[in-house]
Amino acid sequence: MIKIRDMNADDVAEVMKIERASFNEPWAEIHFYFDLYSKISYNWVAVNKDELYAYICFWKIGDEVHINNIAVKEANRKQGIAQKLLDKLTSFARKSNIKSMTLEVNEHNMSAQAFYKKNGFMEVGRRPKYYENDQADALILMKELETK
Ligand SMILES: CC(C)(COP(=O)(O)OP(=O)(O)OC[C@H]1O[C@@H](n2cnc3c(N)ncnc32)[C@H](O)[C@@H]1OP(=O)(O)O)[C@@H](O)C(=O)NCCC(=O)NCCS
Repeated sequence: MIKIRDMNADDVAEVMKIERASFNEPWAEIHFYFDLYSKISYNWVAVNKDELYAYICFWKIGDEVHINNIAVKEANRKQGIAQKLLDKLTSFARKSNIKSMTLEVNEHNMSAQAFYKKNGFMEVGRRPKYYENDQADALILMKELETK
């Protein structure tokens, strides 16, 4: 059974394997370590016993959440694992009175766009040539959460 828990420094080597396999411009290890010790940063992993399948990294800044990173091990995609991470984040955000969640996604990353669209994110802007390696634009996606 998949369980979601906080990422710790011992997870970073396994996280880096997924990161490198998932992105054209992967984060460096230091980026994960930096976020592990940042007060605004939340970093979760999806695990089953000793196996790490996926992670999500986001910042909580005031009443906003910004998703910095999410990836699932290639062999385990399309099994609802990213959905579990996002559902947990959404429930955390609602409890924390977060008003909106944002992120950037590569304009060519259709699977991630489909994932976010299914979850109610809307395109609200574009950062031209945000990704240096493929000179691709970033789409800025946002989801507003209803407040009570
Ligand atoms: C995007 C990503 C995180 C999705 O993870 P996942 O665990 O495979 O996604 P889930 O199985 O939870 O999918 C949930 C929903 O998202 C959509 N979705 C996910 N992958 C999809 C794909 N390849 N094509 C179309 N829709 C997709 C579907 O609507 C799916 O629901 P369904 O299975 O009922 O159809 C994964 O493909 C990944 O790690 N990609 C590489 C890293 C990346 O691009 N991260 C995003 C950076 S912005």
